[in-house]
Amino acid sequence: YPAEQQKMVDAHELIGKLYHHLLINTKEGADALEYLLSRGFTEEGIRKFKIGYSLPEWDMAVKYLKQRGFQEEELEKAGLLIKRESSDGFFDRFRNRIMFPLFDSHGKMIAFSARAVNPEDSPKYLNTPETAVFNKSSLLYNYHQARSEIRRQGFAVLFEGFADVISADQADVKNGVAVMGTSLTQDHVQLLKRLTDTIILCFDSDQAGLEASNRAGAMLAEQGLEVKAALLPQGMDPDDYIQKYGSGKFQKDIIGNALAWTAFKLHYYRTGKNMQNEGEKLKFIEEAMFELSQLSNPIERELYTRQIAEEFSISLEVLEKQQKQLVQVQE
Ligand code: GTP
Ligand code: MN
Ligand code: MN
Ligand code: MN
Ligand code: MN
Repeated sequence: YPAEQQKMVDAHELIGKLYHHLLINTKEGADALEYLLSRGFTEEGIRKFKIGYSLPEWDMAVKYLKQRGFQEEELEKAGLLIKRESSDGFFDRFRNRIMFPLFDSHGKMIAFSARAVNPEDSPKYLNTPETAVFNKSSLLYNYHQARSEIRRQGFAVLFEGFADVISADQADVKNGVAVMGTSLTQDHVQLLKRLTDTIILCFDSDQAGLEASNRAGAMLAEQGLEVKAALLPQGMDPDDYIQKYGSGKFQKDIIGNALAWTAFKLHYYRTGKNMQNEGEKLKFIEEAMFELSQLSNPIERELYTRQIAEEFSISLEVLEKQQKQLVQVQE
């Protein structure tokens, strides 16, 4: 980094160490630590991801970093301080929050995502704004640590939340990464493509997660990656699942049973439809036939078409004819 940006990194490394120390060694951090442990974060996980705690004070970072030679203006540019509106001076952006450091692809600490400890505090997660060193739409959480595991295992697991990444890591799934609350971008896709040709999506099992999987998967497939989707029981996220059912079941039943992309698309079109209703059933079959008409592999196409033919007692010939028509309409 150039000097000015290197100073932003240095400030994060210093304050990040203090936050971490406050969480694991002090009575001020005891409630936050208890919260993390009670929801299943382990001491090892807390150390590996350098999780910390910021005190409920307005000037802890101000004082600590000024004493160590940083200017308030440069700390504001780094996202750590906020300028007062009514009077002179600056105050800490992060107060009374669990501090999750964000690292660049070399493992340098460049930003934070800070979780509220009190459920009534909003927002739930407060992030560093865009800075000269932090761009949230091109950062994948845990990329620097997961990189070698992604290469070794031949695939990456993409999560929606970084809490899921940590939980999965503790459950020995160490090739996980997450976006920072944004949609997947082309930058993210390129970062992944550098390491592997296969991505397993493991998003929250709610409508938002399903829609996000559909969009992310389409982008990845478009760039030539093989995409699978791991499905969780309704209403759960990967962290919830791991805490409830454990590492073995997560690896075997969820990651191990991830659906191929076409199977996911068929599941996606099925969701929310009542198959007892003729109109909705026909709509599903039409969407499914369109999806299958787009497949280049004839074996794959016939396999899925047969499944639908059997499920709805329609002849294979009729479905294949429908697919051909859909392709012609496109041309
Ligand atoms: P927990 O409730 O701590 O288990 O978090 P989660 O990982 O389950 O988060 P959730 O599924 O609600 O959101 C997924 C991701 O979206 C999080 O990891 C964040 O990056 C982001 N996110 C969620 N809530 C907020 C918010 O209030 N503000 C911002 N900026 N991002 C958020
Ligand atoms: Mn949410
Ligand atoms: Mn969610
Ligand atoms: Mn979640
Ligand atoms: Mn969660």
